[in-house]
Amino acid sequence: MYTTKAQVKLNNILKSRSAVVLAIESSCDDTGAAVVKDGRQVLSNVASSQLDVHRKYGGVVPEIASRTHIETLELLIEEALASASKGMADIDALAVTCGPGLVGALLVGVSAAKALAFALGIPLIGVNHMEGHLSAPFLTFPELAPPFMAVVVSGGHTQIMQVTDYCSYELIGASIDDAAGEALDKIARLIGLPYPGGPEIEKLALSGDSTVFSFTRPKTDGKYDFSFSGLKTAALNLYKKGAVAADLAASFQSAVVEYITDNAVEAAKAHNSAKLVLSGGVAANTLLRERLGVKCAKAGIQALWPDMAYCTDNAAMIGAAGYYRLLRGDISTLELNAHPSLRLI
Ligand code: KG4
Ligand code: ZN
Repeated sequence: MYTTKAQVKLNNILKSRSAVVLAIESSCDDTGAAVVKDGRQVLSNVASSQLDVHRKYGGVVPEIASRTHIETLELLIEEALASASKGMADIDALAVTCGPGLVGALLVGVSAAKALAFALGIPLIGVNHMEGHLSAPFLTFPELAPPFMAVVVSGGHTQIMQVTDYCSYELIGASIDDAAGEALDKIARLIGLPYPGGPEIEKLALSGDSTVFSFTRPKTDGKYDFSFSGLKTAALNLYKKGAVAADLAASFQSAVVEYITDNAVEAAKAHNSAKLVLSGGVAANTLLRERLGVKCAKAGIQALWPDMAYCTDNAAMIGAAGYYRLLRGDISTLELNAHPSLRLI
C-alpha cells in the first residue's frame, strides 16, 4: 500500500532531483538519526552508542540492543531535526536500514520509519546497510561519482566491490568465513580486551612489534577473496603458547591490513580503476588507511576514505544511499520488513 500523498511527493522529488531525507540506522548496537540533503550534505548526524550497556557482556546482546533502540530513537530523531534546524514538515522522504543486522534491532528503526512515513505522507526507502557503507564516501567527497572500486570492511562483511553506477555493484571478492572486524574482535576478546576489539587491538599494537609473528594466508578459490578464520586460529595457538599480547596484536593487525590492502589494490589494478574507496567500521583503522594510501600511490590509484564519523555505523550514510535509491524510484511500501541476512547483490 502506498499513499497518494507520498506518490505526489515522490513525483516532485523525481522532477526536482532534490530531497531532504531523514535517515534512521538501528541495525546493531548504535542508534542513529540524520538529516541529509540531496545525498551529500549532512545537515545533522546524531548517534547514541550502546557500548557501555553491552561491554560487560563482551559483545552485543540482541535483546538489550532492541530495547535500548526503543528507548533512544524518538529522542534522537528530535535531536537530528533540531540540530538540522528542520521540522517534520521539511522532510521529503524517510530512509531506514532494513538489513542486514539483528532482526529485533532493525525492526525498531523500520517500525518507526514506517509510522513516520505514513503520518507525514512521504516516501519510505528501505536501505541495505552495506549500501550505506558504500555511500558514506559521498558525504566526504562531494565530487566523487561512480565508477570506482570499493573495499568495505566492517564487523559483518569484508567485500571488494566494483561500483559501476549509483546503486549498481559487482562483487569482486569477499571473505569466505569471518569478516575482518569480526576476526579483530575475536582476537581482542581472546587477549582480554573489551568490545569492540578493533580499536583496542589498534591501541595495544602501538606498544607491540608487528614483525614478531607472521601469518600464512589461506588459499581461496576467488583471486580476491579472503579467509580470516585460519589467521585467527593461528593467533589463538600463538597466544596459548605464551605470545606477548602487544606483539600478537601488532602482528595480527598488520597481517589483516596487508591482506585487505593487497587484494583491494590488485583488484583495482586488474579492473583499471582510477579510484579505490575504503569504508566500513574497520576503515577507522589508521594502519589500514596508511597502507592503502601507500600501495595506491605506488599503483597510481587515488585512495579515498570517509571522515571518521561516517566509517562506523551512522545514519548519515543511510541518508546518502536512500537518496540515490529515491532518484531511481526504488521506494518501499508500508509492508517493509526487517531482513537480517539481506544481500546487496
Ligand atoms: O561498520 P561497523 O561499525 O559495524 C558493522 O556494520 O559491522 O564495523 C564495526 C567493526 C567492529 O568489528 C570493530 O572492531 C571495527 O569495526 N573497528 C575497527 C576500528 N574501529 C572499529 N577495527 C580496527 N580499527 C579500528 N580503529
Ligand atoms: Zn556497519
